[in-house]
Amino acid sequence: MKILVTGGAGYIGSHAVRRLVTAGFEVVVIDNLSKGHKVALPSECKLYVEDLKNQEKIYDILSIEKVDAVMHFSASIEVGESMKDPIHFYENNVRNTINLLLAMTRAGVNKIIFSSTAAVFGDPEEVPMKEDSKKAPTNVYGRTKLMMETIIKDLASVGNLNYGILRYFNAAGADDSGDIGEDHDPETHLIPLILQVPLKQRDKIFVFGRDYPTKDGTCIRDYIHVNDLADAHILVLEKILDAKVNCEYNLGSGNGYSVNEVIAMCEEVVGMPINTEEAPRRAGDAPILVADPSLLKKELGWEQKYNLRKIISSSWKWHKSHPRGYNI
Ligand code: UFG
Repeated sequence: MKILVTGGAGYIGSHAVRRLVTAGFEVVVIDNLSKGHKVALPSECKLYVEDLKNQEKIYDILSIEKVDAVMHFSASIEVGESMKDPIHFYENNVRNTINLLLAMTRAGVNKIIFSSTAAVFGDPEEVPMKEDSKKAPTNVYGRTKLMMETIIKDLASVGNLNYGILRYFNAAGADDSGDIGEDHDPETHLIPLILQVPLKQRDKIFVFGRDYPTKDGTCIRDYIHVNDLADAHILVLEKILDAKVNCEYNLGSGNGYSVNEVIAMCEEVVGMPINTEEAPRRAGDAPILVADPSLLKKELGWEQKYNLRKIISSSWKWHKSHPRGYNI
């Protein structure tokens, strides 16, 4: 079976590509390398450096490669940037997904796994969040992802598509090999930023808000290892390749950790204290985001393999050996 992976050179995409190759799939990647890293890709996969805005090129690739399904990771992902430059997000996320879907329809490819996000829920009314929890995104990024989910579901409803939608909570960690991991520019995510303190790349970590209605006043998130995410993709892929079915799952561990708890676990893993400083709340942050992953467990037998300690240990291994990311 051959799978086309968009955004395969990115953080989550590259871990999924590795898992696909290991599971015996042939993998073709489309990535414009604006954020992705060519070196993150295994030699077994074929890379097309292309942008999804070029529908004809995508159609040509799909026609040549004759893939069985598409995993669609590529997107703009920074929430803060989405509020400053919304049109870029609508172009890069919504328009480019429509391009991809049009190219797929023309090439007769009708199975897609779509990377969605907990950001589609906005401020949750219930925690943990189930698949049918109310979706009311509070930022442009989340709105673009919800729009893309809707478009995919509408195409499926007229029989043109089979889909698997996975809504990620807080992806973190790195492959156990220590040779692929998180390398964003700029970095905005909590765990890599905390680990920059023991790496002496920053003096301290700012804690954005200590006055939230949570057990210690800091925000609670559901951190999930990037390989646990990748495993879920393989399970969902097998499901939609096997049968003409559609499915959507929330993909998190089901456990919430506060910012303070994450910092404390980083201190334990690296074996040294980490300086912190209280800072104002970051606009748009919900107090608590935790997934209910029971549907994924029940229907596909997915299990989380990495707890928070393992997530942070894997991240530390990667950052220690690659303090400047893929620039070593
Ligand atoms: N935080 C700090 N200090 C920092 C960075 C982050 O206190 O320097 C806090 C944030 O306020 C938040 C928590 O750490 O409470 C996690 O923040 P991240 O930026 O690591 O992640 P987010 O929860 O904001 O967002 C991530 C992804 C989104 C996705 C969301 C889903 O970046 O794309 O998870 O839960 F939508």
